[in-house]
Amino acid sequence: MAQTMIGIIGGSGVYDIDGLEGAEWVQQDSPWGAPSDAILTGTLGGTQMAFLPRHGRGHVHSPTTVPYRANIDALKRLGVTDVISVSACGSFREELAPGDFVIVDQFIDRTFAREKSFFGTGCVAHVSVAHPTCRRLGDACETAAREAGVTVHRDGTYLAMEGPQFSTLAESKMYREVWGCDVIGMTNMPEAKLAREAELCYASVAMITDYDSWHPDHGAVDVTQIIATLTGNADKARNMVARLPDLLGGERAPCPHGCDRALDFAMLTAPE
Ligand code: ADE
Repeated sequence: MAQTMIGIIGGSGVYDIDGLEGAEWVQQDSPWGAPSDAILTGTLGGTQMAFLPRHGRGHVHSPTTVPYRANIDALKRLGVTDVISVSACGSFREELAPGDFVIVDQFIDRTFAREKSFFGTGCVAHVSVAHPTCRRLGDACETAAREAGVTVHRDGTYLAMEGPQFSTLAESKMYREVWGCDVIGMTNMPEAKLAREAELCYASVAMITDYDSWHPDHGAVDVTQIIATLTGNADKARNMVARLPDLLGGERAPCPHGCDRALDFAMLTAPE
């Protein structure tokens, strides 16, 4: 049976991971173009790890220009079985405070300027994303974050916006009050959809940096505010990641939720 290989996609502020044995930045090519950066590989507690900084070291890709298809494809080609996204997010709930982590389970995708599928002309497939995240991976992230001393919340709905501007006040209120969203970010879509098409388990850890603009006591969100919380969050993320091999490592059994068999019922084009 195949061994687990954990892929971490690090968002703003998370540009590497600690303690990797045999650490090496490898350039993994993809027919979908170049990934955001080289991928940091190595082992942690005997488990193979692959880390990809989503925006590139030096933060050179905006949420719109991140090469999402190349990133997911490159991780798959390296042998990654489980993808964990960590990303900075705004909060729509008083109780989801800056510095807390939220294990996202649902998304509303409002992005519109990105390539969203590996499939198209010549090969058509429609995968289910009714449950776009892997509960098994989410459970491991929750445990790892708790063990790392982080205040962690379960089952959040993530509003994926195009950006790069933050939301207007009216949008922020609508997402929170009408659409019932819990957190907002600019990068988890189409990443989660592509991971499902690539039959990779995917979990998303939202690291709260701000209250977006709806909160009467916090005013408009800006980058200075986000950066102030980001550094502490990145340390917490590294501590969480360090605990994941104990929870996920070893032989990789078939995913109990079927993430690794997502294409079984998705193909429309007849094989040649
Ligand atoms: N990333 C961090 N905070 C955010 C916010 N308020 N809106 C969108 N993306 C974010």
